[in-house]
Amino acid sequence: MAPDDKVLRIGLLGGGTVGGGVARILAREAEDIAVRTGAHLRISRVAVRDLTRTRDLPVPDTVYTDDAQAVVDADDVDIVVEVMGGLEPAGTLIRRALASGKPVVTANKELVAQQGPALYRAAHDAGVDLAYEAAVAGAIPIIRPLKESLAGDRITRIMGILNGTTNYILTRMTEEGADYDAVLADAQALGYAEADPTADVGGHDAAAKCAILASLAFDTTVTLDDVFREGIERVTATDIRTADRLGYVIKLLGIASEVDDRVETRVHPAFLPKTHPLASVRGSFNAVFVEADAAGELMFLGRGAGAEPTGSAVVGDVIDVARNLLQGARGASESQHRAKELRAIEELQTQYYVLLDVEDEAGVLAEVARCFGDHDVSIAQVWQDGSEDTAQLVLITHRAREGDLRTTVSALGTLSGVRSVASVLRVESEGVTP
Ligand code: NAP
Ligand code: HSE
Repeated sequence: MAPDDKVLRIGLLGGGTVGGGVARILAREAEDIAVRTGAHLRISRVAVRDLTRTRDLPVPDTVYTDDAQAVVDADDVDIVVEVMGGLEPAGTLIRRALASGKPVVTANKELVAQQGPALYRAAHDAGVDLAYEAAVAGAIPIIRPLKESLAGDRITRIMGILNGTTNYILTRMTEEGADYDAVLADAQALGYAEADPTADVGGHDAAAKCAILASLAFDTTVTLDDVFREGIERVTATDIRTADRLGYVIKLLGIASEVDDRVETRVHPAFLPKTHPLASVRGSFNAVFVEADAAGELMFLGRGAGAEPTGSAVVGDVIDVARNLLQGARGASESQHRAKELRAIEELQTQYYVLLDVEDEAGVLAEVARCFGDHDVSIAQVWQDGSEDTAQLVLITHRAREGDLRTTVSALGTLSGVRSVASVLRVESEGVTP
């Protein structure tokens, strides 16, 4: 039982989607949480931007303020939970909280991916926790497994569906032939999307999560700018239909691997064989596929976005840091002892899907094939669809160097028989479990 008199007070920075989920879970599970923690957890203050907005959080009206710094500084706040998002003022508020000896829980992947090392140092110097499980893949426990459960293993590769909004959009486009803009509006209404949804569809959000995972997996410092990134904006209905016909699905993947002692991190849409475990991850679900030397393959699956799934991860962290606070302890630190050397995207070796609009006339296929061959890219499969005087060539290459593929694509655009290079996507067949 939690001692009746022991209370830890939470200052919530943000009372939006995630803040609402956190408040509801803390209220609904209050008794069990108190027993598990060893103290009652109470929200004593909530910072919001707009005090006039009607809110349905299970907290007294008196806790709201638009002065976020006052929440951090308040004597009646023991733990700061940052769910406001953005780099500033969130970063300054977190550093201020840590410097004053208050543990911080955050869901802010953008901030952790860009300023992680400075924040870890601030937490270390202050001797308090900085926890950010909710920053990657919503409800899925993945930060703690990487930092603690797999600490004795060597991780070689992580491949994940790290953004709920884009997975939701791609799933509905694939299964219903739904319109991109309409599905994006639904994802926003469901609370999956970022305040600026271009962060989701442009791959920035997944890249931030990929940077955080790569840093933890490879004991180094990978920041957002280190991650190669392409979004889903240019994925067309034709690409999705073609992928389906050839036995693939299109997913926005975040991939972090160690190749020849160098770290490779990338986020982009890719053809994934329908047989791959990640191919069946639908809707707002996320999944992280981890390959480790001793453990082998592990897959973590769950809801990657939304108020309560994300709230679950935040509350788990709050309980963790509260337990440590009660014991005067700290959780596991990040280890960043290995120097980072990045592998450039041009050195990537993978397969590619190329869709060409071509003239429907003799000799075009030979001209195209010669162009691939001239640039050391070998074609594995080719199909032709045609109507009247136009035709489309669909090509899947063997594994090739990205730099060579790019040169090929530039050269293809100059061929007389090629009207346009309609699409180029990577094909991720590596490591597929039969
Ligand atoms: P949100 O719904 O837009 O909520 C943000 C909250 O912060 C709002 O209550 C807003 O006040 C408040 N706020 C923003 N700037 C403020 C400021 N300067 N001073 C005081 N209050 C301020 O965002 P969210 O979806 O909950 O996301 C919050 C964080 O969680 C972000 O870092 C996001 O990346 C992360 N995250 C979100 C999800 C998800 O599924 N939504 C999942 C994982 C992680 P008003 O209400 O007055 O505008
Ligand atoms: N906008 C994010 C997503 C929220 O769609 O995955 C979870 O980080």
